[in-house]
Amino acid sequence: MRTRRVAWGAMIFTVAIDGPAAAGKGTISRAVADRFGFRHLDTGLLYRAVGVKGGDPATAARTLLPEDLTGTDLRTLAAGQAASQVAVIPEVRAALTEFQRRFARAEGGAVLDGRDIGTVICPEAEVKIYVTASPEVRAHRRWLEVGGEEAQVLHEVKDRDARDMGRADAPLRPAPDAVLLDTSTMTITEAVGRACALVEAALSARKRAGGHG
Ligand code: C5P
Repeated sequence: MRTRRVAWGAMIFTVAIDGPAAAGKGTISRAVADRFGFRHLDTGLLYRAVGVKGGDPATAARTLLPEDLTGTDLRTLAAGQAASQVAVIPEVRAALTEFQRRFARAEGGAVLDGRDIGTVICPEAEVKIYVTASPEVRAHRRWLEVGGEEAQVLHEVKDRDARDMGRADAPLRPAPDAVLLDTSTMTITEAVGRACALVEAALSARKRAGGHG
């Protein structure tokens, strides 16, 4: 895909990409950030790092360091489960909020992917996309990455969905103005193309309106 690096200068522009586990958020977010030269934050990593750190989760969230986000153990199924368990704790979410907000609204454009970016972290995001796919499709994709028993991966995907959608604080749900992108029957190229087209349209609309930040 054509990469377009533009000096966005003082522009503040946020792309919020939310959705359940293994829907394709990470791949789409990285591709969008790369295409438009925006910074990217995988917010799930913050919760994963808190989940695997041990000790009191709220303290772990308040004292999180950049090096905590580089562990190779953060991508495992176990880390995903640990993340969704600490993510229900309001003190953990509150401790991680300010960093995410600053990242989203710093100059130069940002893509954040997570569960509550369009609803809680940055409701003013210029583009909001809710990426989803059926649980079976998502479990199959995750199983191709992590191996093991596919039925067990499906069980964990459904378990995490239920916890993320059912929690009281910042539950996973599409923002009212989010564009839904169901990737169940899409290729990665199609999904990335749709997301980039939405960003392109929002940037063009801003340019026509004469806004730049
Ligand atoms: O996106 P990822 O699968 O890495 O996220 C791991 C877990 O972290 C999610 O299942 C969810 O419980 C939590 N999370 C969250 N809010 C975010 C990002 C992740 O609650 N913005």
